[in-house]
Amino acid sequence: MQTRRIGDVQVSAIGLGGMPMSIEGRPDEQRSVAAIHAALEAGVTLIDTADAYHVGADEVGHNESLIARAVAGYGGDTSDVLIATKGGHVRPGDGSWTLDGSPDHLKRACDASLARLGIEAIGLYQFHRPDPKVPYAESVGAIRDLLDAGKIRFAGVSNADPDQIRLAGEILGGRLVSVQNQFSPSFRSSEPELELCAELGIAFLPWSPLGGISQAGELGSRYAVFADVAREHGVSPQRVCLAWMLAKAPVVIPIPGSSRPETIRDSAGAVDVKLSAEELSRLDAA
Ligand SMILES: NC(=O)c1ccc[n+]([C@@H]2O[C@H](COP(=O)([O-])OP(=O)(O)OC[C@H]3O[C@@H](n4cnc5c(N)ncnc54)[C@H](OP(=O)(O)O)[C@@H]3O)[C@@H](O)[C@H]2O)c1
Repeated sequence: MQTRRIGDVQVSAIGLGGMPMSIEGRPDEQRSVAAIHAALEAGVTLIDTADAYHVGADEVGHNESLIARAVAGYGGDTSDVLIATKGGHVRPGDGSWTLDGSPDHLKRACDASLARLGIEAIGLYQFHRPDPKVPYAESVGAIRDLLDAGKIRFAGVSNADPDQIRLAGEILGGRLVSVQNQFSPSFRSSEPELELCAELGIAFLPWSPLGGISQAGELGSRYAVFADVAREHGVSPQRVCLAWMLAKAPVVIPIPGSSRPETIRDSAGAVDVKLSAEELSRLDAA
């Protein structure tokens, strides 16, 4: 598995997104554990989660706990696995996603994530989404305090615009290592953030890279060029999509969600797809 850099560690160039295993429509735990084990088997060493990946109000951190159990129960070496989680979103249990970016909440959320993950320091802790009720600098200030306290090893932000990325970098004293924003063939408006990350040398983690849980399977039928290029290479359109992202900049680390072994195995193979300049420009134009 090819690797890319987050902070000063190398992780697999394709990560695993944990959300489909824990929100509405999730499969049984056995299938999710099989998917996580298939990811590890394929050389995936970055797993993305969040305390908000759950359904009921009484099961906050469902996905973190699931990942912690699956990683602990894997037979092989997992010492190089970086678990990236997030705080700042809240799910009250009625299907909605609300925000709490207050420093108090973020610090309590981080402690709870630490307990669920059963580790001394969280690999990568990301501020999930700006909360309009709280000045961005205050929320990111809480993340800085968590870094200073040694509760998190690396700090990242998510759903941030270029100004927020620059501000976060300043507040964290140059210790911002990643930005996680939506990016896919159907959502390209975060190109400026991707380019800024490439310029700053920090990781850019596209979320919903295949178009999201409900649309990922239709990528080839929605975007004929992705299907055409996939046919030429004898691979899936999803694999071509991830390879196209990887080619955008060396800082890009897509985190496709999976809840089945087959899909994460397929996605992990994107690192071996070499696209020509002509193919990349056709995909860019699609
Ligand atoms: N920061 C944020 O605000 C934010 C928001 C949304 C998501 N995220 C993160 O980003 C991750 C990815 O986003 P997402 O899960 O919403 O959407 P996605 O990655 O675009 O799509 C996920 C779906 O794609 C399917 N899939 C994966 N690989 C495939 C392949 N090679 N061929 C065919 N189908 C494939 C999976 O199906 P199966 O389930 O059948 O395996 C899965 O349900 C999430 O899991 C989460 O970690 C972050």
